[in-house]
Amino acid sequence: MAEYNLDSLNPLKFTELIKNRETENAKASDDICVSDFNANNLAGSLHPKKQILKISEIKDAKYTKIYTLTSDKCAYFSAGQYLSVSVNIEGKTYSRPYSVVSTPKDALKGFYVIAVKRVEGGIVSNYILDNLKVGDIVEASDPTGTFTYEPLRDAEHIIAVAGGSGITPFVSLAKAIFEGSEECTLTILYGSKKEDDILFKSELDSISRSCEKVNVVYILSEEEKEGFDHGFINAELIKKYAPKSEYSVFLCGPQGMIGFVDKELSKLSLEKKYIRHEVHGEVANPEGFVDYPKNVSDTVKISVYVKGEKTEITASSKNTVLRILEANGIKPPSRCRSGECGFCHSKLLCGKVFIPKELDKRRQADSKYGFIHPCCSYPLSDLEIEVSEQ
Ligand code: FES
Repeated sequence: MAEYNLDSLNPLKFTELIKNRETENAKASDDICVSDFNANNLAGSLHPKKQILKISEIKDAKYTKIYTLTSDKCAYFSAGQYLSVSVNIEGKTYSRPYSVVSTPKDALKGFYVIAVKRVEGGIVSNYILDNLKVGDIVEASDPTGTFTYEPLRDAEHIIAVAGGSGITPFVSLAKAIFEGSEECTLTILYGSKKEDDILFKSELDSISRSCEKVNVVYILSEEEKEGFDHGFINAELIKKYAPKSEYSVFLCGPQGMIGFVDKELSKLSLEKKYIRHEVHGEVANPEGFVDYPKNVSDTVKISVYVKGEKTEITASSKNTVLRILEANGIKPPSRCRSGECGFCHSKLLCGKVFIPKELDKRRQADSKYGFIHPCCSYPLSDLEIEVSEQ
């Protein structure tokens, strides 16, 4: 691996950058100052800071509700990306990522579709299901995420391994292949306990019937039925449906399933770049990770600094730092809530946190200079942390 001079990457050295640029700009004469750049305008329309979307339709589906969100101008996206949807609950703002189920072409027509499933003990999904109705307005981020087909990196044939509502990004990808906005071949291995648990089955069946580049295999772990594979998605099953040529494996589903399939994939000796993950939000219980330490105190004290102002919090050590902050009215920027995007990036001034290895996507320099991603960090001791607010 290449050696970097980490001192030159110290994030703290960048804090003066904008101020220095502004000072230099102010010295320039007006006639050479350009304030309107085409590239900036294009970037602004593709990546608006936020989108105001109206709920135009709500459909009941198995264990979920399907929401159509409309706007005069929906930012374009790639199949596999998600929207971070924000809601205000009793004066506190919470957000959660939802994969877009509709297609990039649908965004050009002015709508996105997301699926929301009830989560035991969940805050945002349950609030949306119980409170939001047609005509209500929600705020969402621009489409975000890297769980997309990238021909420079990925093999042309994707084996999608899905569990539960982890099928949603693949529904979008299957539809996008069918309508011609993505050019790859997709084999979906969709694991469920029973046939009745399968989401979007009629859409997936209809696409695979009419599009030879999309194939869907349903695997049931608790039922044996004709037309379905039985058991778990393991190396043998992946080999059975994988092409002889190169292929990428995209995984999306519950943490337990991803951990199991990752172990199975190690038997197939795939190149690392051909294995891609989407974790889908925070992991609720850190004690489920094998390397979570023993004897962690149940409650911790956290001192939070936002723009120099200090707030003291007492909280459970079994929640992520991001959840703790939000529950106390502090709203750092966030998108993926699974360690990947870096939006929640914050400075740990003092104390220790547990960061599951598989979720630690920090840059080397961030780790070295004490920055953490609060969405995948669990307190192990009292903490002092500095965060920026949205
Ligand atoms: S919200 Fe994406 S890394 Fe924390």
